[in-house]
Amino acid sequence: MKRRDFNNLLGLGLLASSLPVAIAACQSDTASSSGDAAGSGSFVPVGTVADLDAQGSLTSEAVKGKKLAVIRDPSGSGAVLAVSTVCTHAGCTVAWEGGQGLFVCPCHGGRFNPDGTVSGGPPPKPLTSFEAKIEGEQVMVKA
Ligand code: FES
Repeated sequence: MKRRDFNNLLGLGLLASSLPVAIAACQSDTASSSGDAAGSGSFVPVGTVADLDAQGSLTSEAVKGKKLAVIRDPSGSGAVLAVSTVCTHAGCTVAWEGGQGLFVCPCHGGRFNPDGTVSGGPPPKPLTSFEAKIEGEQVMVKA
């Protein structure tokens, strides 16, 4: 066997033996990436159904530090609605007023419907809404 042939065989052998390691490394990266993606879109508990029904609303910053409120859908569907409590006019904190069926801003009188759309006042756009659901005894909001 010539020296060149020996080197070619040695190179192929090294390549073949390192290939499974490279594939395993790629699979590991892929698995952690998909895990991160699933985590960013996962639901986060923000309170109990008992507290929601007792208080009429839940407020939370458990979803990535965002200020939000969760209420029962007033249409009676049993669903829950979650919106940001940061007013789109000048950033004051809105509060759910169950008697009026509106989110009300204390600063300039902005009013928002249960789904966050503007009902009246100076706010230029709706409150940011979040996907929400009830799972067992927990109220969950999608991060
Ligand atoms: Fe809410 Fe002005 S900050 S109406």
